Amino acid sequence: MIQTDAPAGIEGLIEPTRVHSRLYYDRDIYQEELRKIWYRSWVYVGHVSEIPQPNDYVTKSIGPTPVLMVRDRNGEIRLLLNKCPHRGNQLCAYRQGNRATFTCPYHSWTFSNTGELIGYALADGYEGESKVGVGLGTVPRIGIYRGFVFGSMAEDGESLMDYLGGAKAAIDQLCDNSPTGEVELTAGFLQHRTKANWKFLLENETDGYHPGFVHGSIFQVTKSGIANLYGTESTALTRDYGNGHTEFDLRPEWRRLGEPLKWFGTNEQRLPDYVAQMNATYGPERARQIMIDGSPHTMIFPNLFIAEIQIFVLQPVAVDETIQHVTAVQFKGAPDINRRLRQQTMGSVGPAGLLLADDTEMYERNHRGALIQDPEWLILSRGLHRERIDENGYRIAHSTDEVPQRGIWKHYLKLMQE
Ligand code: FES
Ligand SMILES: [Fe+2]
Repeated sequence: MIQTDAPAGIEGLIEPTRVHSRLYYDRDIYQEELRKIWYRSWVYVGHVSEIPQPNDYVTKSIGPTPVLMVRDRNGEIRLLLNKCPHRGNQLCAYRQGNRATFTCPYHSWTFSNTGELIGYALADGYEGESKVGVGLGTVPRIGIYRGFVFGSMAEDGESLMDYLGGAKAAIDQLCDNSPTGEVELTAGFLQHRTKANWKFLLENETDGYHPGFVHGSIFQVTKSGIANLYGTESTALTRDYGNGHTEFDLRPEWRRLGEPLKWFGTNEQRLPDYVAQMNATYGPERARQIMIDGSPHTMIFPNLFIAEIQIFVLQPVAVDETIQHVTAVQFKGAPDINRRLRQQTMGSVGPAGLLLADDTEMYERNHRGALIQDPEWLILSRGLHRERIDENGYRIAHSTDEVPQRGIWKHYLKLMQE
């Protein structure tokens, strides 16, 4: 453990415009984060489209804890903890499938997909014992918004709607880009393992200061003009929605340019079926506005990143290790745009993709840097002098300013002090 002179309490490590390096590497702080954030807050788990049929299941997680997201035989979505109550064996080792029951591989106890114990193997050894109360652990609260399934390990607390607050609008904006109003996360997930603390990833998702430098090479080869969004002249904004939710809002730039599908690097001529569907669903005027505004770039605390055309799910597995689960957004019933969404996702965040590799290099360097003792404090003051409040009451500033990072730490401190 690295020695430090910083005060022991968490409040001594977080100030409005700087945070202490210890927050990223201290094992005790990480354990406290699991208790106070990951096992208490609402955390994104999965999407209903991943389990469309009765008895479908998929293996997910809440922080390091494995969770089975299940649709039971009556169609209800449930979140079960993937642990056999007999001797604690991991119950299900498959990533996904369809089954009404789960049988533990160790001593063959069988459970229904609603969590109840159905039967013991060699049942004579349990004569007279009740099966009631010997079921699987469950995530006590489930909240679903437009197909996005969240779970909270806390029995009580604010509703998912109150928790999402203004960030709900980002999920709406994403879904509105679908001609059916629905997204599907059915393209399969890639997993990127990063040797860095989860908060470096969380902060970076809405950091508009780094792309011009870290992603300079990809912007150059694609000649996309994206670099301008992250320049001094950009009208794009950073936003703090409160509750730790943050955004990089590109709409002012796209509206200034006023070209439908420019946000996706294409135009209406290239996606005629999609455009026709959008016009039919929303009417030409609203459809045009949606296609100009594009999809959001919003980080829903602590783990759901809507990255315009991808969904990233952050999963901390250790104080210095994080997995990013990545998939392409798919718009239900829109095959022409979906194909391009998958292709662009592979190019940017696939195994040989350029974008995420750049970021991952930065995360791991961040973590190595955090372990160096001097200087101990990291600076988050960018754009403080030009912060302002938008028409909905949320704090905003220039696209390269650190409004999101200050917002994240403010919420983090509140949770860790509760
Ligand atoms: S640990 Fe599961 S049946 Fe024994
Ligand atoms: Fe990046």
